This record gives sequence, structure tokens and C-alpha cells, in this order.
Amino acid sequence: MGGGLPPHLLFTQLGHRYGPVFSLLLGPHLSVVLNRHQEAREVLLQRGREFAGRPFMVTTDLLTRGGKDIAFSDFSPLWKMHRRLVHDSFTLFGEGSGRLQDIVRSSVDDLCLELLSGGGQGFDPSPAVTRAVTNVVCTLVFSSTYRHGDAELQEVMRYNDGIVETIAGGGLLDIYPWIKVFPNRCLRKLKDCIAIRDRLLSRKLEEHKASLSDGPPRDLLDALLQGQGQGHQEGEGHQEGGGITDDHVLMTAAEAFGAGVETTSTTLLWILAFILHHPQVQRRVQAELDEQVGERPVCVSDRVRLPYLECVINEGMRIRPVSPVLIPHTAMTDSSIGGHPVRRGTRVLVNMWAIHHDPEHWDKPDLFNPDRFLDDRGHRVTPPCFMPFGAGPRVCVGESLARLELFLFLSSLLQRMSFKLPDGASPPNLQGRLGVVLQPLRYKVVVTPREGWEGGA
Ligand code: HEM
Repeated sequence: MGGGLPPHLLFTQLGHRYGPVFSLLLGPHLSVVLNRHQEAREVLLQRGREFAGRPFMVTTDLLTRGGKDIAFSDFSPLWKMHRRLVHDSFTLFGEGSGRLQDIVRSSVDDLCLELLSGGGQGFDPSPAVTRAVTNVVCTLVFSSTYRHGDAELQEVMRYNDGIVETIAGGGLLDIYPWIKVFPNRCLRKLKDCIAIRDRLLSRKLEEHKASLSDGPPRDLLDALLQGQGQGHQEGEGHQEGGGITDDHVLMTAAEAFGAGVETTSTTLLWILAFILHHPQVQRRVQAELDEQVGERPVCVSDRVRLPYLECVINEGMRIRPVSPVLIPHTAMTDSSIGGHPVRRGTRVLVNMWAIHHDPEHWDKPDLFNPDRFLDDRGHRVTPPCFMPFGAGPRVCVGESLARLELFLFLSSLLQRMSFKLPDGASPPNLQGRLGVVLQPLRYKVVVTPREGWEGGA
């Protein structure tokens, strides 16, 4: 179907023929595709509760010990309680506490040193960026910070890569689950990576349990364990067959890697790729930084002073949403979308790519133009058809963490260094490749320190 086109482009093309809302059979599954923000907002927000279900999928069921995570677990009172606990735990380390800022900053300093040591040679920034984001998540989840080349960090990155690769290849298996009875290389690799992941995370969990106190949580694992021991054991979820178990805690930690590394590092790499195409955008961000921040380290409270940088981040997420089709939702009751009846159990695929490129709402949607997020008076605006993190009951639980990371990483990088193409190199390919997320193809950069930052950090 679609001659090899990735689903977001195929659905956009089908939308031109059949209209912005259409249904199709993916294997035996009736699936409704939404290409327009009006219907997407109806499903995600107005009828968010009715469409907050998730379908069963073989690969993610394996990955999450039968839905003990947030992203792939079906809607239930226990899921709601689990999501609230995770949300509260993230908030603990959120913008207010300063803790997260310290964690990200330390990783940014290492990244800057590493990039600047690349010298005037062209190199691929992707491994260093992914390592820096992985390090943030490791510190946030279990308080480990790794130096470049650390064996445990390599292990985390290796199994994470393996999981991402096999989940991306699992499409057919998730449409026809019975395929799993046949020998399957993809499924075997996924199981191996999950086993390595679980060994490492179980060890961290046991260490945390042994040293857990009533004091302020050191990290996400502490916060989850404390929450597990307090009120979160009670309430609706408990009556439904148990509260938050160790498996839930473990799967949440695993999900912080699965959902938090690839998405954030890929968004950073897309923005750098577009900046290489539009050097004037880099100069304007740097002028804003020089005027508003100068040479002191950038902090979270500078966000309000750096509106153009925030627009560059938004425009990067608009033009290349890393999750171009959202995780499938399912209708939990008979309902309707745009007046069309929808049966319980129907899958709903929100095509964020089509929504972020809808010419009715975006002028020249294929053009990278951060100014579209500013109004005539230079104030920031957020159009209703911009939803890179989804919306409603299933909105990304890591949104504020991701936004904080994107802001601190990009501001610190552009404050300290400039990016350009190696001599004679063509600018990065902007088509991208769809795996679990939509990634840019590898490209090379030359990094030069800005005045005063020759030492890096
Ligand atoms: C869900 C985007 C970073 C954790 C999602 C969804 C999107 C998204 C589009 C699906 C919403 C839906 O199904 O309707 C992004 C982007 C990120 C990012 C663009 C970075 C630039 C993170 C981070 C974490 C995280 C850092 C955690 C450490 C999650 C979780 C869900 C989710 C747990 C599932 C929510 C649910 O099903 O209730 N994200 N995300 N994400 N994200 Fe993120």
C-alpha cells in the first residue's frame, strides 16, 4: 500500500482524495485517519476521555510487561493513577525545583566540550547529542552520570537503539499478531534487548529500595517508590486488582528512556539541520542571546526573554514532528468524530504531519519560518493546529521536561558556538527517515567557538 510511502505521507495523500477524515482497514483493524486539526482536537480534547484507549500490540506488550507503562497501557483507573504518579514525580524535578536545570546544564557543558573538541573538522553531531540526552535521563531516573565512553552508558545506548530499531520494524506483527508463532529475527532481538534493559534497571531498583529514605527523593525512581508506598496504593486502582507494582515502577523508568531520548535528541538534530539551511536564523538567535543573556550561563527563567529561540524550537517541531502520526488511540465507547459515527474499539490515527502542514492554516507550510509563531507586535502565539506533544488525557507526560531540555541545550550551544557546513558539503537532507520517530539522515557540521567560549564550558 502506498508504494513504500511512510504512513504520514500516505495518509496525507489519501486525504487529498478522500477528504480529511477517512477510514481504512489495517489488517483486520478498522482505523480512522484524521488529517485536520478540528477533528484531532475533537478526539484528543473535547472527547478525550472517549478516545483515550490504546490498542493491543505484540511488540509493545512485550516491551511493557503487558502494559505496565503509561504510553501503551489501555485506559483504566489504575493507568490513571499511575499516570498521575508519574506526572507528580516529574513535577518534583520540574522547573520550580532547579534540580532538573542542574542536571541538564551539567550534560550541556559536557556536550559543548565534546563538540568543540571536534575542532574545525566536519563531524556527525548525532552520537554526542544522543549521549548527552541519554545522560540527562540516566541522572533524572537513577542518579547516574556517565563520562564519555563509560561501559554502562554504552550498554544503555546499545539496548535502547536495539529496541527502537526493532519496534520500528514490528509494524506487520502489530497488525497480524499471529505472525509471532513463526521464527522472527526482529522479535528475538527485541527480547534480547529487553532482557539487558531489565537486568540493568532491576539492579538500579534494588539499590534504590535498599537506600530509600523518607527525605526528598534523589531521582525519579525514589519518587516512584515513595509514591508507591504512600496514597497511590489506595483508591480505585487498588480495587481493580492491585496498585502500582514494582513492574510499573520498572516500566516507567524504562519508558523515560524509550519515550524521552530518541524524541528529544532527534528534535535537536532536526533544528540543527534546519539552522544549517538557514544561517540567518542562527545569527538572529545568537543576537538575541548576546543581548538578553550575555556570557553568563543561560537559565530556565531566561525563556521569557528569548522569544525568538522559543519560536525556532516550535518551528522545528512543527515542520518535522518526531511523532508524525500519534500513538494509535482507540474509541472506548461508541462515539462520533465530525458527526460520523465511530464504533467502540475503532483505532484512531491522528496525522500530525498533515495538521502541521495544512496550507489552510500555515502559510507556505514547507518553509522553515520561526516568525510564524510571532504576532505583529512580536509576541509569541501558539496556533490551535500546533500540537507536537498531542493534547488531552494522553498528552505527552514529558512535555515540560522535553521543552526545558530543548531550551537549555539549544540556547547553551548557540551561545557558545556556531554551526556551519563543512566546505563543499551539501546541506542536510530534510526528507528524513521514519523509524520509531522521524529522523534526519546523518549529516556533518563544523563547529567554531564564539568569542569568549574558546574553552568550551
Ligand atoms: C506521549 C511527543 C519527549 C514521555 C507522547 C505523544 C507525543 C509525544 C506526540 C503521543 C500523544 C498521543 O498519543 O496522543 C514528544 C516529543 C518529545 C517528547 C515531541 C520531545 C521533543 C518525552 C519525554 C518523556 C516523554 C522527555 C519522558 C521522559 C511520554 C509518555 C507518553 C508520551 C510517557 C505517553 C502518554 C500517554 O499515553 O498517556 N509524546 N514527547 N516524552 N510521551 Fe512524549
